[in-house]
Amino acid sequence: MVEEIKKTSNRSKKTSEVRSSSQALQKASVKRKPSAEQTKAKPIVPKPKKVKTRADKKIKTSEDNIQKKDDAGNLDDEVKKSPKLSYDKKRLVDLSEIHPTTKYIYQLKKKRTIIGLTAYDSIMAKLVSKAGVDFILVGDSVGTTMLGFDTTIPVTIDDMVHHTAAVRRGMPGCLVVADLPFGEASLSFDRLLDSARRLMQCGADAVKIEGGKDIADDIEKLVATGIPVMGHIGLLPQTVKAIGGYRKFGTTREEADDLYTDAISLEEAGCFAIIAEMIDEEIAAHLADQILPPLIGIGSGHQTDGEILVTHDLLGLTPSPLPSFVKPCASLGLDGLNALQNYVVNLRNRPVKKK
Ligand code: KIV
Repeated sequence: MVEEIKKTSNRSKKTSEVRSSSQALQKASVKRKPSAEQTKAKPIVPKPKKVKTRADKKIKTSEDNIQKKDDAGNLDDEVKKSPKLSYDKKRLVDLSEIHPTTKYIYQLKKKRTIIGLTAYDSIMAKLVSKAGVDFILVGDSVGTTMLGFDTTIPVTIDDMVHHTAAVRRGMPGCLVVADLPFGEASLSFDRLLDSARRLMQCGADAVKIEGGKDIADDIEKLVATGIPVMGHIGLLPQTVKAIGGYRKFGTTREEADDLYTDAISLEEAGCFAIIAEMIDEEIAAHLADQILPPLIGIGSGHQTDGEILVTHDLLGLTPSPLPSFVKPCASLGLDGLNALQNYVVNLRNRPVKKK
């Protein structure tokens, strides 16, 4: 895969020489009534009772136990057990199509929209994987969504290892990408390598690093050691203190040119995909056209090669104001609160035995 990405990167190197950075800115079936004959009551024939023989009693083997363990993560079983639960079977993605490899993600470009969602624990990993996403991002957004921080800056490599391992235990069928948290990429290459290794050893298939041309050399070295890297350009939440808040990128010619340089540098470093956060829609579309790896957008319009969102935002679980580009598809926070209030009120009203 690294070879393949490199080959194509080299090809693009030549073309990128030709491309000038300022170019970045140009551009039912009918139901019949049953007949009287059909509606006539049929005689009820009692079914013969099946007498169980000893041979029918299956002896459990260790294989059965293994099977049972695998099924423990199968949501279909949960749906069968509870008549209240159901999901729309017609809308299911054929999960056998999804492969947990970087090559699969890379090759989806220009075929269909690539979909990524965040997960930080095993239950969410099972749910988003069952929904049919192409990859899970164990994002350092765990800091703001789950750990109560205002930014992603306090998230440590130990936090990321803990959550990545939990996601892996959810046995998702798609690629798992883990975020390198604040500071890890800026100390030394050895530190970066060590932290990336820790994430890979606890269950990540690839790591994501925030930054463009400034970090490209280290990414190239990391890729050469066999660690697949997803890039991240545009708004870099880990730099929020330095840039003074969250905002759109690529709205000036200078910024658009910088984004172009960043994207090309990451392609040449061997990234298998690049996240584009909060980039002007036209610029993001242009970048997606210019680079070989898929450009996965977040708040960057609808013309990128894919979309990534924070699952908690999408499901209405985030209490704070949502980023403007998120259109929640559920209100699990409120639904959960209502359910819990009912539970508490009912229990408080349960008669107590008075002495
Ligand atoms: O940490 C995260 O969830 C991310 C996404 C917002 C891309 O980096």
